[in-house]
Amino acid sequence: MHDLLITNARIFEPDFAAQPQAEHPPRRADGTRPELCDIAISGTIIAHIQPSAGVSSAPTPAPTLAPGLAPAPAPAPRTIDAAGGVVFPGFVDCHTHACWSDPHGDHRLDEWAMKLAGRPYLDILAAGGGIMSSVRAVRAATEAELTEQLLGRLNTMLRHGTTTVEVKSGYGLSTRDELKMLRAIDAARPHFRGTIVMTALLGHALDPDIDRARFVRTTIDETLSAVASEFGTDMSVDAFCEQGAWSLDETCELLARARALGFSVRVHADQFTSMGMVPRAVELGALSVDHLEASTPQDIAALAASKTFGVALPACGLHVDGRFANLARLTKRCIATNFNPGSAPSASMQMAIALAARKCGFLPLEAIDAATANPAELLGLTDRGRVLPGARSDLVMSSLTDARSLALRFGENHAAIVIAAGRVV
Ligand code: NIG
Repeated sequence: MHDLLITNARIFEPDFAAQPQAEHPPRRADGTRPELCDIAISGTIIAHIQPSAGVSSAPTPAPTLAPGLAPAPAPAPRTIDAAGGVVFPGFVDCHTHACWSDPHGDHRLDEWAMKLAGRPYLDILAAGGGIMSSVRAVRAATEAELTEQLLGRLNTMLRHGTTTVEVKSGYGLSTRDELKMLRAIDAARPHFRGTIVMTALLGHALDPDIDRARFVRTTIDETLSAVASEFGTDMSVDAFCEQGAWSLDETCELLARARALGFSVRVHADQFTSMGMVPRAVELGALSVDHLEASTPQDIAALAASKTFGVALPACGLHVDGRFANLARLTKRCIATNFNPGSAPSASMQMAIALAARKCGFLPLEAIDAATANPAELLGLTDRGRVLPGARSDLVMSSLTDARSLALRFGENHAAIVIAAGRVV
């Protein structure tokens, strides 16, 4: 017996071409199966999918027997009629900085005013603001405060259909504060109905109060090992390679050491400046290179020829300076929110999809793939990102009748019902 039955669903099939031939159902121009289907969920898993009867979604009533003649029938599963609306896999947001401290809800608003007046993002950082403002706030917060604020944001993301969220540290910089951030992120897991993937962003900025060489050495020699000892190496280490942040050589040294310890690595590259990081990241076997707004055609060609994912963060282009990555040439590519208080104050993958389809070289269906199946692969979570039997039942139910409308109609929340690990949230 199933726990939940979704009837009359128009199922979106991400990454159709990558599925084994045997599993190839034909699909409509909008990437959905040709017929409406019922999705049966048992526990946290999609148990099976079958064509809908097409008449009624109501469960068949159990035959009435005289009391005592037969055991009571098993309770009918809860049924939700999708009424022909598109059901998407839960969105997988593979790049966020969702853990920060903003108890009054006005964090970096003044900096935004400066930015609107024309002051560049890197200037604000160089003057001790930007990322460093968030570092000061995070250092002043307790672990419990960080967890509580993070959970508030994660639940907003969930209501907008994001069921798997990568969350980076990176606003601690010191060993003590990076560990505090990672503990705060880890502590949110049991309270969140979706999935949290933790990343140690150890090379996010340079602490202006510490000599540069000493700070970099401490991060590589001490913070990295402390993270490995406390959390193991089954996660990614990340860095921000940029003028005014980590240099190419510093970033490569940090990431190479992380690789040697057994971590996977990712990197923020070419946000404002093409630093030569993309080919080096490819050499290092990075899982992804994220940002890419300033990448040269050679950078993109190196990425296209590699196994490393490119990750577009279009909310950042919208908010910061109108520059966007163009990832049209990549097949291994994702879209993420980059949710953070400075460069991308947006929790919505739907907004990121809509922007990527307009600004980053993604067709609407490619943008949805890049928000579901592709980031699931990047994060090594092969049990999600597709609506298939055996997959984790992370689903977004909408009233859309054409999946492409998800990219077309921006500014509204199309997630009418969100299901995470088999439960309506
Ligand atoms: O990916 N650029 C580096 N890190 C973030 C911004 C973080 C912040 O401004 O607080 C990003 O855009």
